[in-house]
Amino acid sequence: MTTPILTVVDHPLVKHKLTLMRKKETSTASFRTLLGEISMLLAYEATRDMKLGEVDIETPLVAMKAPQLEGKKVVLVAILRAGLGILDGMLELIPSARVGHIGIYRDPKTLEPVEYYCKVPPTLEERDVIVCDPMLATGNSAVAAVERLKRNHPGSLKLVCLVACPEGIKTFHAAHPDVPIVTASVDSHLNDHGYIVPGLGDAGDRMFGTK
Ligand code: URA
Repeated sequence: MTTPILTVVDHPLVKHKLTLMRKKETSTASFRTLLGEISMLLAYEATRDMKLGEVDIETPLVAMKAPQLEGKKVVLVAILRAGLGILDGMLELIPSARVGHIGIYRDPKTLEPVEYYCKVPPTLEERDVIVCDPMLATGNSAVAAVERLKRNHPGSLKLVCLVACPEGIKTFHAAHPDVPIVTASVDSHLNDHGYIVPGLGDAGDRMFGTK
C-alpha cells in the first residue's frame, strides 16, 4: 500500500467537530475537548499503514493466528506549544507511544526558525515518527522540526495537523517531499499576519486560554 502524500480526513465527525472549534464563541474547555477528540480520529488515519504481523492465540473456542502490530513503538513528537493538544488525543489511541517535544520560535529579525528545546527518544531508527502541530500555516516550524528529526534517521515520518493551507503545504513539501501530511482541512489561504483563513485563530491561545 502506498501512503498518499496528503490525506484530508473528511469523516463527518471530524468535519462537525472542526466547525465547533472554528466558532469564535467556543470556550477554552470545549476547544480542548474537541481537539482531543479530533486528534484521536486523525491518529486513526495517520496509523492506517502500520505493519501487522501474526501471533498464535487461543480464544475460548479455538486456536487461531491473529493480527498484531509489529515493529517498534510509535513516537509522537509535539511541536510546542500547540502540538500538545494533538498529542494528548493521539496518546488516548496509542497509549504506548513514546513522546518527544520540540520547541521552535521564529526569530523576529531574521524570521528564521530557532530551536530552543528538543527532547526525543534516543533511538528513532526503525520507529514510525508522527509530528503533531495543529496549524500548518507558513510551514516553517514543521519544516525545521522535521529537519531536526531527520538527523536521527527515523524509520518513517508523518506530519499530523488539524488545519493546513496551500502555502504551508507547498513550503513543507518543497523541503520534505517524502513526508506525508494528514490533516482535517485545507483552508483557503494564509493572511499577511501568518494566520490561516478562515482558520480558527491562534490554536495555542484558544487551547490554553492565553488571550
Ligand atoms: N498558528 C495558529 O495558531 N493559527 C494560525 O492561523 C496560524 C498559525
